[in-house]
Amino acid sequence: MKPSLQRPVVPLEGVSTPVVSPIMPSVVYAAETPDVLDAQYEGRAQGYTYAREGHPNADLLARRIDALEGVTGGIVTGSGMAAVSAALLGLCKAGDHVVGGDQLYGRSLRLMAEDLPRLGIATALADATDAAAVAAALRPETRMVLIEVVSNPTIRIADLDGIAALCAARGVLLAVDNTFTTPRAIRPFDHGADIVIHSVTKLLSGHSDATLGWVGARDSEVAARLNVFAVTSGLTASPFDCWLAERGLATFDLRFDRAQANAQRLADHLAGAPGVRRVLYPTRPDHPEAARGQSLLRGQGCNMLSFEIDGGRAEANAFARGAQGIAFAPTLGDVGTTLSHPLSSSHRALSAEAQAAVGLSEGFFRVSVGLEDPDALIACFDRGLEAARGV
Ligand SMILES: Cc1ncc(COP(=O)(O)O)c(C=O)c1O
Repeated sequence: MKPSLQRPVVPLEGVSTPVVSPIMPSVVYAAETPDVLDAQYEGRAQGYTYAREGHPNADLLARRIDALEGVTGGIVTGSGMAAVSAALLGLCKAGDHVVGGDQLYGRSLRLMAEDLPRLGIATALADATDAAAVAAALRPETRMVLIEVVSNPTIRIADLDGIAALCAARGVLLAVDNTFTTPRAIRPFDHGADIVIHSVTKLLSGHSDATLGWVGARDSEVAARLNVFAVTSGLTASPFDCWLAERGLATFDLRFDRAQANAQRLADHLAGAPGVRRVLYPTRPDHPEAARGQSLLRGQGCNMLSFEIDGGRAEANAFARGAQGIAFAPTLGDVGTTLSHPLSSSHRALSAEAQAAVGLSEGFFRVSVGLEDPDALIACFDRGLEAARGV
């Protein structure tokens, strides 16, 4: 290794190795000769050149998520939306058509409604719980279908197997955002997905301190195209965020189990509580796709639930204020439970008709259940419900 005139080179080799991945924030990597650079760029030697193009912390994290999803060559991106953008913008061109689930995450919907059409990519939305509705939306020029396994915020379960069969028969790429469900509940590649997307910001990282995404593809050429597009358009991630997420991922299984157990208890409690109109949770028998939840998610409900209380905005305000101890914050997958109100946040830009069509009202809340003591958690929700009933 050539010594640098600017900085001393600190050798990482030694007789012992760190048990925790080091953070490697270097933006740039020095190579010995042009021949060595050639070898790196041509894939004959492993190395890095420039952090936007790749760095060790991104690779360490990507390989771990690859293993969870059962694929190779996935890439870490600077956010979940960067992963969604890489899939849509990196693989589609003007003249193509994209079909999205009609209850995608709000920013994904916005990409479909505004940005893709601006670039000459036509889009349509369809009910992902119904493969026939998705089939009806396909056109000869449809290039991709983008769905979430469990929809946000209404917790509906997509007909993943039906849509995958449809996409395979029509030669359409199927992209599945697995953020809500995680590889613990389902591995979409096993069900025929071509592309899988995560907001790593959420459960995988788990502590609301890193904004990241991941996108992987079954086909190595598609994966390589995603990688080149992410690097060119600067969608890649910072070493520190990747390091935090790698640390968070170490406890993902434990956090998932605890959050899921808490969510099941809270869902059952809320379903019997006065002032609650309905509860949406995949393992409850009153869920609209209860049977599909059992087969597709193998009986797992995950950590997300939604519920609707009686009343309007005044009752919603009273509930949010009364449920002290629960952060009223529009994120999910944190160690702490968070509560969100779609009508004043993610779905505020929709028309009143569109909001009603997805079943949203002022009394509708989404909960990302965390790792708290379940009795204390339930007591917080009871205090909120009591406050709402008192309006
Ligand atoms: C299902 C889903 N996909 C993608 C995203 C976007 O992720 P990020 O906020 O990391 O960009 C979110 C964010 O909430 C989400 O819920």
